[in-house]
Amino acid sequence: MARLGVNIDHIATLREARKTQAPLPLQGAFICEKAGADSIVAHLREDRRHIKEKDLILLRNNIRTRLNLEMSTAKDVVSVACKVRPDRATLVPEKRRELTTEGGLDVVSNSARIKEVSRKLSKNGIEVSLFIDPDKRQIDRTAMLGIGVIELHTGRYANARSAQERKRNLTQISQAAVYARNKGIRVSAGHGLDYRNIAAIAALKMFEEFNIGYSIICYALFVGLEQAVRKMKSLVR
Ligand code: PXP
Repeated sequence: MARLGVNIDHIATLREARKTQAPLPLQGAFICEKAGADSIVAHLREDRRHIKEKDLILLRNNIRTRLNLEMSTAKDVVSVACKVRPDRATLVPEKRRELTTEGGLDVVSNSARIKEVSRKLSKNGIEVSLFIDPDKRQIDRTAMLGIGVIELHTGRYANARSAQERKRNLTQISQAAVYARNKGIRVSAGHGLDYRNIAAIAALKMFEEFNIGYSIICYALFVGLEQAVRKMKSLVR
C-alpha cells in the first residue's frame, strides 16, 4: 500500500504573507499525522521563502512520522540538513525565480556535486533520494552513483492538456518506474498531484510513496486539513 507524504511548505507560505508566527507548520504537521500522513515533507529553499531552519528543528524534534527534507545541493542548505538530520533528503533542482520546482534534477550533468552531497548526507545517517524526470539516462546515472531511492517528477502528467498527453506521460512514468525498480531502486512520485489525477497513477501500484502538497493545502482551506489529508490518503491507498 502506498504511503502519503504531505508537503507543508504552503502553511509557511501563508505565515510569511504576514511575517508573523501563525500558522505554524508544526501544528499542521500534527494534524497531518493524526489524519494518516506517513511522512512530513518540507522544502528549505535557498531564499528561505517559506520554510525556515527553525521550522525544521521543531519538526525534527516533535513529529512522530518521518521527515523528508527537499533541498538543493547549495552548501549552506547541506549544512542545515546535516545539523537537522531528516530521515530522508530529497535533492531537487532549484531556481531563484521559479514559483515551484520546475523539473527534475539533471543527475547526468551534475553528478560530481550530487555524489559529494549524497555521501555527506549518508554519512550523517540521512537517506538520499533524487527527484528526477522519468528518463532512463537519469535513472542509469542515479544507479551508477549508488543512490537507491528516487522520486519521479509527475508534473508533466499533472499539467497535461489533453487525455492523450496525460496517457503518454503516465506511460512514461510507469516505464521509468519499472526500469528503476529492475535496477533495485525504490520509487516514489510527486509534484502537481491532486484529488483527480492521483487515481490513475496510484492504480499503477508501483510507488512506495506519493508526496503531495499544494492540492491538499488548497482543499484544506475549505474542509480543514484533517479531512483533506484523510481524503488524499484514501485515494493513495
Ligand atoms: N515532490 C517534490 C520533490 C517537490 O519539490 C514538491 C513541491 O515542493 C512536491 C513533491 C509537492 O508538489 P505539489 O505541491 O505540487 O503537490
